[in-house]
Amino acid sequence: MYLGSYATTLKRMTYGKMSRSNLRVLAVSSGKGGVGKTNFVANLAYALSKRGKKVLIVDADLGLNNIDILLGLTPQKHIGHLLSAEASVEDIILQGPGDIHILPAGNGLQELTQLQPEKKMVLINELDHVSQGYDFLFFDTGAGISSNVTFFCSAAHETILIATTEPTSLTDVYALIKILHKNQAQKHFRVVINSVSSEREAQGIYRNLTAVTDRFLAGVSLEYLGYILHDTNVPKAVRQQKAFLELYPFSKFSVCINEIAEKISKEKPSPLSSARDQPYFWRSAFQVQY
Ligand SMILES: Nc1ncnc2c1ncn2[C@@H]1O[C@H](COP(=O)(O)OP(=O)(O)OP(=O)(O)O)[C@@H](O)[C@H]1O
Ligand SMILES: [Mg+2]
Repeated sequence: MYLGSYATTLKRMTYGKMSRSNLRVLAVSSGKGGVGKTNFVANLAYALSKRGKKVLIVDADLGLNNIDILLGLTPQKHIGHLLSAEASVEDIILQGPGDIHILPAGNGLQELTQLQPEKKMVLINELDHVSQGYDFLFFDTGAGISSNVTFFCSAAHETILIATTEPTSLTDVYALIKILHKNQAQKHFRVVINSVSSEREAQGIYRNLTAVTDRFLAGVSLEYLGYILHDTNVPKAVRQQKAFLELYPFSKFSVCINEIAEKISKEKPSPLSSARDQPYFWRSAFQVQY
């Protein structure tokens, strides 16, 4: 019975997706924690919103909310309420700066940190229902290589990986690529190098990462999406709980984020979002996991 209802829901989700090829679903992940994922997602979303795009951020660091704290929001309800059927997705979505929308994760809820397949299904179903009105949906994942992280990455059209200059960031991002490739059949990853002193430094780090994936992970392709300069104003904006781009629109971090937003906003939706013969979006997450 469960499998039957699963197949029906899946079909509905898949067909629903096909008719909305403008929606782009991007997961942002890193392996290592604290490399700037949440700041990147919040501000990229803000920059895209300022370019007229409708953006929803899903705080996919379930059980350890980040994004609402970063933006000084105080949600009354969160994804936990959605999964326990105490609230609908519309009840939970918050409006953030620059008209971005946010689906907050709960805090300190251990059961959310390792979602059971049925709960993943509920979440995906709800997201499919609500995603209709958006151009972009971002998953701000947690750190590490947990099943939640790999689930959100495989449920997205594209995965953006954030790395920094720290050697541990590179080894951790490599571990994540390896797992997503081997277990979830992901082949393509976009890479942003954060907290660098120059674009040259970012490109050097990117080259090192590509050299390792080319050598050890046949079939994986990386793409350089951009770089973000180290900016001493970032921790100040974090303390003020405001979007960085709003507070410091001309600071180094903002210039780099705007460059990436400009690039992304001009792209056509990923071919994965419309190609019928490719695993994509929601379907891919379940195809691999079941
Ligand atoms: N370009 C930057 N320049 C200076 N500081 C930065 C930059 N990017 C991020 N930071 C700082 O790094 C810290 C971690 O950022 P953030 O919370 O966005 O990381 P994260 O990857 O989401 O962490 P987690 O894995 O815990 O979710 C923050 O205190 C932020 O101020
Ligand atoms: Mg975070």
